[in-house]
This record gives sequence, structure tokens and C-alpha cells, in this order.
Amino acid sequence: MNRFENRVALVTGGGGGMGEATVARLADEGAIVYALDLAGEQVEALAGRHTAKGQRVFAIQGDVTAAADLDRAFAQIEAEQGRLDVLVDIAGGSMAGYVSTLEDSDWERLFRWNVLSTVMASRRAVALMSKNGGGAIVVMSSISGVRGDPGWGAYNTAKAALINFTECLAWEVGSEGIRVNAICPGPITSKRMMDSLPDDVFINLYNDSTALGRMGQPEEVAAAIAFLASDDAAFVTGAHLVADGGLTARTGQPIVPPDE
Ligand SMILES: NC(=O)c1ccc[n+]([C@@H]2O[C@H](COP(=O)([O-])OP(=O)(O)OC[C@H]3O[C@@H](n4cnc5c(N)ncnc54)[C@H](O)[C@@H]3O)[C@@H](O)[C@H]2O)c1
Repeated sequence: MNRFENRVALVTGGGGGMGEATVARLADEGAIVYALDLAGEQVEALAGRHTAKGQRVFAIQGDVTAAADLDRAFAQIEAEQGRLDVLVDIAGGSMAGYVSTLEDSDWERLFRWNVLSTVMASRRAVALMSKNGGGAIVVMSSISGVRGDPGWGAYNTAKAALINFTECLAWEVGSEGIRVNAICPGPITSKRMMDSLPDDVFINLYNDSTALGRMGQPEEVAAAIAFLASDDAAFVTGAHLVADGGLTARTGQPIVPPDE
């Protein structure tokens, strides 16, 4: 498939995990990809690997929570390409803590990292996309934005806000030919996620939590993101696509086994 031939994409958090996989997927399908990441050396190395394969991937070191970094990135893309067709807002992150024990400043940090960063990048993308007749934005939410998890309230609340942000923005920019959708992954085997699990017991618990009996791969989420960003999803906007191996499809209530 070459759904993104010569289209220009910006992937925030493009240096690792699902961001890295999304950069690879879009580049494999012909896109000119800008990968923005806090980890400068990591994203430079990633861009170098793609360039060596003849693909057009450019690294931008930057922090999505800093408006000046986003201004610099969008100005670079406009100067070099004159357009933007796809924005994938992946950078974000979590922090554990109960509602009663997390500090106000923790909530502020989580909202800046996940929500405000996405709002700031999306607003800048809309300004650029509306000049070239449209585009597609994919927002990184999570199944944590769809249901509650004790001990993760600030993260879940932020990811839930992104689903409603997606719905609001989709209606505000639909008439300009811009589609906005959210992706809600379940447990995915990014390096950061796997490093955060204390032992195999937790890996098995995550595996058992899905109908498919395993965690997802970053590339599987990248494929879903690519669908939402592509013309295959031309009539899909304001949606949130759950990619969780079936985890949230189950009520979780106790089941008395039916008679054989
Ligand atoms: N891994 C999972 O199970 C899972 C599930 C659902 C949603 N998510 C969300 O997906 C996103 C990516 O998570 P991941 O686990 O794939 O990889 P990850 O957490 O390693 O993040 C991907 C990249 O984002 C970069 N990044 C982080 N903060 C940044 C910032 N302020 N500015 C610029 N870049 C920044 C990191 O350097 C990293 O290279 C996050 O928003 C996370 O909340 C993860």
C-alpha cells in the first residue's frame, strides 16, 4: 500500500514505542515524515535508519509541552514542505497515584503532557492544513480514557478529555476537509511499557486481560493509526477506535459457566 505517497506527516513522540512504529508505517507507505521527540539522539538515529533505506524521515528534537518547540517544528515543516497532511499526536505519558494522594501539580503536569500538548499541536496543524485544503489528525488516547482504573485517575481523566477534544475538533474543522479521530490502545509492548512491568506475573496478567490472550505490538497500533490517517477512513471523523485485543469488550462481571 502507498496511501501516503508524497504526503507530509508530523508524528509527535516519533522517536520510540508506537510513535516509532507509526513513523515507520507512514514512511513505508510513501510519506515524508517529521518525527518530533524529546529524546534528540534517539530520534536522530531513527531518522538516519530510514534515510539509509531511501525514505524521507526528518528528526526534530522538541518537547510537545513547550509552545515554542511546536512553533519551531511547524515553521520548519511549512518552510520545507509548504503543507501538512497528517498529524499524529502520540507524545504523552502516565503517572500512578490515587486521586486523594496525587498533588494538584501532578494533575497539572499530566494534563499539560497529554491534553494541552495535543491541543497546542492540533491547533497549529489545523492552521497549516486549512491552507492546503484539508488533512487528518489522529490523537493518542487510550482504553484508560474509556474506563476508570484505580490508582491512575489523572492519566485516565486526561486520556478521556482527549476523546471529547477529538469530537469537538472534528465538528469544528470538518467543513475545512480536516478529519480528527482518536486511537485508544490497550496494553502495548512498547519498551517503556515493558520496562514498567515488575515481572512476568504482570506480563501474564496483561496477556490474560485480552480476548486474544496477548498484549498488542506497536506496529499493530501503527496500522490502525495509518488507517485513520488515510483516505480509507475518508468518512470517519470524531471517532475513537479501540485497539485493545478485546480487553474493554468484556463487562468483567463474574460468570457462572453455562451447563455443558
Ligand atoms: N504502551 C501502552 O500500553 C499504551 C497504551 C495506551 C496509550 N499509550 C499512550 O501512547 C503514547 C506512547 O506510548 P508508548 O508506550 O508507545 O511509548 P513511550 O512512552 O516511550 O513514548 C513514545 C515517545 O514519546 C516521547 N515523548 C514523551 N514525552 C514527550 C514530550 N514531552 N515531548 C516530545 N516527546 C515526548 C518519548 O521520548 C518516546 O520516544 C503515550 O501517549 C501513552 O500514554 C500507551
